[in-house]
Amino acid sequence: MDYNAINDYGNRLKKINFGRTISLDSGTKEQYYDRFIKKADFWNLEVDNDFNTGKYAKSFEMYSDQIGRKFSTSFELNETLKKAIFLPPAEKNNKRELEELFKNRISRRKFDNTTWSLQNLSNLFSGIKALTDNHRGYASGGGLYPVNLYFFTQNIIGLENFSVYRYQPCSDSVIKISKMRYMDFTSYIHIENLINSKNIKLALYLVANRTKNEFKYGERATFFSLLESGEMIQNIALCASQYDYKMCQLGGYDIEKSNETLNIDGITSFITACAVLGG
Ligand SMILES: Cc1cc2nc3c(=O)[nH]c(=O)nc-3n(C[C@H](O)[C@H](O)[C@H](O)COP(=O)(O)O)c2cc1C
Repeated sequence: MDYNAINDYGNRLKKINFGRTISLDSGTKEQYYDRFIKKADFWNLEVDNDFNTGKYAKSFEMYSDQIGRKFSTSFELNETLKKAIFLPPAEKNNKRELEELFKNRISRRKFDNTTWSLQNLSNLFSGIKALTDNHRGYASGGGLYPVNLYFFTQNIIGLENFSVYRYQPCSDSVIKISKMRYMDFTSYIHIENLINSKNIKLALYLVANRTKNEFKYGERATFFSLLESGEMIQNIALCASQYDYKMCQLGGYDIEKSNETLNIDGITSFITACAVLGG
């Protein structure tokens, strides 16, 4: 890539930041950063400026009536109860004050050899489950809940090993989706810097489904899904803190392999967050 091309792409500031002073074509550092250089119009999202139009207001009205509810699959419960495994109630645990809870929310990379059962999952997912009246502990644009939680298993009593499960927040249950294609976590996630990774119990993924909220918010829906994922993963992290589970969020995961095993296309449904957990 030559100097003018960088200017054309409007990345002059980055050039200075990255210290590309001599040659833009040489060096592993330059090659690495070049992977991320995009034409400026790539970032042009077709977002609506506002949602004040009559049509938008009308869309609210129709959620309340029976016909309107059928407008989108977003309102279907979409939980499979037939083969679902129901979690026990979360254990009462008032171990920590709020401040202490935040302090104890630390990325942990050393996992102990502990026994995990459905109880641990229940405790962990109590931060995202549907409570009374289907209300949840995090907000969702339009109440459409476009983000689902999936997880890969390793030695959890009551669940099949190296399998893919989806958490069902309304029925507080988990359902097996498939077997993992590769029978080890290292094929999917980069855990070289974690200690005793064989003790990790689950690798979780949050997956946003565009069809659930784009019909209402256009491309802004993606921002909303990302925001919601952040709220969800934080609630999970605070549960982990409360119950003294170890958790580390991961940006280092293989998107292709993870998508393949999650059976998502990465476009209409895509991963927004990943984390490993254990005791
Ligand atoms: C989106 C995201 C991606 C991350 N990716 C990794 C990762 O791939 N490997 C890792 O060891 N830690 C990863 N982390 C953890 C961060 O390194 C950690 O949150 C940060 O150093 C602050 O430390 P703390 O979480 O203990 O407060 C990630 C965190 C986030 C939010």
